[in-house]
Amino acid sequence: MSTEIESVLIENRVFQPFQNLVEGAAISGMQAYEALCDEARKSPDAFWDRLARENLVWQKPYTKVLDESEAPFYRWFGDGQLNVSANCLDKHLNTPTANKTALIFESDDGKVMTVTYKALHARVCEFANGLKALGHKTGERAIIYMPMSIEAVVAMQACARLGIIHSVVFGGFSSKSLQERAVDVGATLVITADEQVRGGKAIPLKAAVDEALAMGGCEAVRHVVVYKRTGGAVQWQEGRDVWMHDASANQPAECEPVALDAEHPLFILYTSGSTGKPKGVQHAAAGFLLWALLTVKWTFDSKDSDVFWCTADVGWVTGHTYITYGPLAAGLTQVVFEGIPTYPNVGRFWEMIQRHKVTVFYTAPTAIRSLTKAAESAPEYHPREYDLGSLRIIGSVGEPINPEAWMWYYTNVGRERCPVLDTWWQTETGGHMITPLPGATPLKPGSCTLPLPGIEAAVVDESGAEVGRGKGGFLAIKRPWPGMIRTIWNDPERFKKSYFPPELKGYYLAGDGAQRDTDGYFWIMGRIDDVINVSGHRLGTMEVESALVAHETVAEAAVVSRPDATTGEAIVAFVVLKQTLPAGEDADRIAKMLRDWVAKEIGPIAKPKDIRFGENLPKTRSGKIMRRLLRVVAKGETVTQDVSTLENPAILDQLSQAH
Ligand code: WT7
Repeated sequence: MSTEIESVLIENRVFQPFQNLVEGAAISGMQAYEALCDEARKSPDAFWDRLARENLVWQKPYTKVLDESEAPFYRWFGDGQLNVSANCLDKHLNTPTANKTALIFESDDGKVMTVTYKALHARVCEFANGLKALGHKTGERAIIYMPMSIEAVVAMQACARLGIIHSVVFGGFSSKSLQERAVDVGATLVITADEQVRGGKAIPLKAAVDEALAMGGCEAVRHVVVYKRTGGAVQWQEGRDVWMHDASANQPAECEPVALDAEHPLFILYTSGSTGKPKGVQHAAAGFLLWALLTVKWTFDSKDSDVFWCTADVGWVTGHTYITYGPLAAGLTQVVFEGIPTYPNVGRFWEMIQRHKVTVFYTAPTAIRSLTKAAESAPEYHPREYDLGSLRIIGSVGEPINPEAWMWYYTNVGRERCPVLDTWWQTETGGHMITPLPGATPLKPGSCTLPLPGIEAAVVDESGAEVGRGKGGFLAIKRPWPGMIRTIWNDPERFKKSYFPPELKGYYLAGDGAQRDTDGYFWIMGRIDDVINVSGHRLGTMEVESALVAHETVAEAAVVSRPDATTGEAIVAFVVLKQTLPAGEDADRIAKMLRDWVAKEIGPIAKPKDIRFGENLPKTRSGKIMRRLLRVVAKGETVTQDVSTLENPAILDQLSQAH
């Protein structure tokens, strides 16, 4: 890792902002940026107060901006009331935006459907009325397990309208993961689809929901609402199961948005941490909405004429903030895509940018890296073959973007006339935190540059003291911000322990390592905890280990990551079986079986790329697994560190040779 950081830090190319983007930008020029930062530093309350008044529609105005009395359980705009869905939809009804296209949906097989703001409002109201008619109310929790679709946005917005707290589970997660989340939130409602279609293949979703609910613990679920996507066969439980179109049918196209307390939870989204159990990150209605809208305006410098496309899935936070909420609150036209970047060919993204005249494109480094490779072997689908002239801003999110991928993106997709915005943030932060601004920030490939106004980011040591420029440390945020996580659902103690450890003086600990260069630019160095980032998907090593040891053949397992040219990091599992050490085809067969098992337990994204068998794992005399050494072995490197504290040093040779 340290050599990679050094190579990143000798990166000295700087790209000045393009004049055409500076003019008329929401934050135009570095002076304007500094002025906003100063305003926020001088009086944070007055700063956030101004922004919350200017940007949100309140049903009941608040009197207090920030309540720190129960810190770190911060309360923002605590005694105010609003409705998030009204701020995304109703707000536009008596404006020219009402007849503007809100969503351009493109299906896996290339069919395009559009919906205006007015029509989307009607669909959300009809469905919300349908949910009400089924007896669902404010404060209940709904699991949403849906494909990328207009209907998924409708489902989330309808929940927000009624104050039903949604927890979206990515369609690639297994029924077991779904069940665990449904149990943890105490879901009373599940919204799903018969099947999802990706890359020409139909994958059942309703069947996974049936399986999850049959596992027990979800007896509180009263309804399973099903969006008919393919018409594929589904099992039906009368009384419990309801078609989404039936729920919406004959319902009025108006539904009074419920006035919700600012701190009412908008959603819970599970993400991986250092233990085997994912954390239910809880976000609050008003603060999250403000941060989603502000960051769309600031980072993407949104214009009424934009066609915005964020390629994320609504199963991840990026899809919450930059599909369902932020762009709608900003009144933008956006593309929603059902499929995958490689189907029917690897030019799909570029073709869609051309077809829909996308102006702002936001995707993940892993997609860029895999499309770079693909474009080399299939030059007919190289981005240069498409008209990408509509683009003005291109962004990146989810993992570090290495300078090579950055330059490829900048040159081939942005055609050297669009800034690459490397946005650093997390499920917990609600929206962008450290990111360039298109009309202000000089860019350096590989750096997420500078914090947004109001965000006081720092690199600190174990005692919370700031480290000098050029030195590595923990990335921390010194003051609360409206979009921040409020708590971990059902586990406030874990919230405090994970993000506000007592040593850190009340700072928010992000869980990433970072350093700042002499210009104060931030360079993210990856996680400091046992979290792995595979293709921008966050996974806990402990989660994968727990899944492995749950298999009857496995005695012990240790999971680490190794760098991967396409997926950023790849999972390597070291496994001790209960039986004797397998070899040859036997080992291949068991490895495949365990990979499939992990896919079933967690989801295909958690499948180890490499499984190595050993008679034991490298342990200290006190029995602690030496992961540090396993990381070296996983990379195929020779262990040069001191192994004298190891109980069984010979095991390293065995694991290095194992396939
Ligand atoms: C972790 C958060 C951000 C929404 C999607 C992922 C890594 C994220 C960057 C970036 C370097 C990044 C961090 C972070 N990460 N963006 N621009 N540069 N690393 O959200 O699943 O909560 O993961 O992703 O390690 O902590 P998430």
